[in-house]
Amino acid sequence: MSIVYIRNAAQVVTMAGPNDKPRTGAAMGELGIVEGGGVVLEGERIAFVGTDEEAARYVKRHAEGREVAVIDAAGKTVAPGLVDPHTHVVFAGSREKELDMRLRGATYMEIMNAGGGIHYSTERTREANEDQLVRETEKRLDRFLQHGVTTIEAKSGYGLRMEDELKQLRVARTLNDRHPVELVSTFMGAHAVPREYKADPDAYVRLVAEEMIPAVAREGLAEFCDVFCEEDVFTPEQSRIVLEAGKKWGLKPKIHADEIVPYGGAELAAEVGAVSAEHLLRASDEGIRAMAAKGVIAVLLPATAFFLMTKPAEARKMIEAGVPVALSTDRNPGSCPTESLPFVMNLACLTMRMTPAEVLTACTINAAHAIGRADRIGSLEPGKQADVVLFDAPNYLYLQYHYAVNLVETVIKKGRPVLLNGKRTDR
Ligand code: NIG
Ligand code: FE
Repeated sequence: MSIVYIRNAAQVVTMAGPNDKPRTGAAMGELGIVEGGGVVLEGERIAFVGTDEEAARYVKRHAEGREVAVIDAAGKTVAPGLVDPHTHVVFAGSREKELDMRLRGATYMEIMNAGGGIHYSTERTREANEDQLVRETEKRLDRFLQHGVTTIEAKSGYGLRMEDELKQLRVARTLNDRHPVELVSTFMGAHAVPREYKADPDAYVRLVAEEMIPAVAREGLAEFCDVFCEEDVFTPEQSRIVLEAGKKWGLKPKIHADEIVPYGGAELAAEVGAVSAEHLLRASDEGIRAMAAKGVIAVLLPATAFFLMTKPAEARKMIEAGVPVALSTDRNPGSCPTESLPFVMNLACLTMRMTPAEVLTACTINAAHAIGRADRIGSLEPGKQADVVLFDAPNYLYLQYHYAVNLVETVIKKGRPVLLNGKRTDR
């Protein structure tokens, strides 16, 4: 087993601590920082985290003639590989024309209801074969990696019919096998009512619940099930049917809730026992209280609010109410075409007043909880998977201060440096 020794970091953000539940309230501000730290990786796992002196001693005792790859982290901040718990990364085509339309006054929902938006991406995705989708998506994963992201969630939802939903999920599985970024799949056949079902949306809900979900589950193509619960998309009742069917087939519920109008999505998330509710720009106070009571994670997407030029979610209110908060890009072709999770972190501070410490928690351990992976990733603790990122920053506060630039220098996935001083090592 190879040894990697990350030595002499200005700060190591460990996120060590009781991590059996997502963090809430004041615990979101606790990062477990080691000043002047060292991290030792053995094979795919983290072997030791402590002061650099302790780490050097650990290496001496355990190297036993093995070669030790040393990564100098002097002046740098070392953190767990970032986790993005909400993306729609598998799709074909792009929609830059819609930005121009929105700047001229059209709204996101008007564009979608007129057949653009998700419907446009669905047409392009249906036309593309698996190879094309793999190629287009791979470029996006490369950018995620360059921004320090080592694991993402990936939703289907641009197929909107059996074969194309399965195709999207198979693409995610292929990429998970061959790209350093790990993908966790979510089935989101209920992302929009496809045009051919416009006259009978309930028939589409039945197709999703009774045919697509069983097919996805039988092929083991997804761990989660999501639905776009929104006015003019799926009602709370339709959303409940989809999520309950998912539960029956072993898919854990997630929900796009209260993004455009207050619609009872946060309340529904609590009722069905969702792992997370996402967006929540217009979540009601009652919905927030219900989420806190049930421990539903709020996955907030401030870059989507930014790109749609609207007010972001009330992160402070949620944190104060005891809701565990995670952050994500929402990478998709319409409401958030960026892979920069670090920019999302900047926006979380500057537009939602989350503190730099809360933001790091939201993109590491809480994000890992939101995709059911907190036992393996999201913190730097012995035994966990060796996913690590090195930032050119003298401390964690600097990440939110020197903003909108990429400070990521080195990324290690499962113990292997895949980005070293800004350069990919695996190609
Ligand atoms: O999370 N809200 C619904 N779905 C995506 C946008 C998808 C699209 O516009 O293509 C979102 O914002
Ligand atoms: Fe989304």
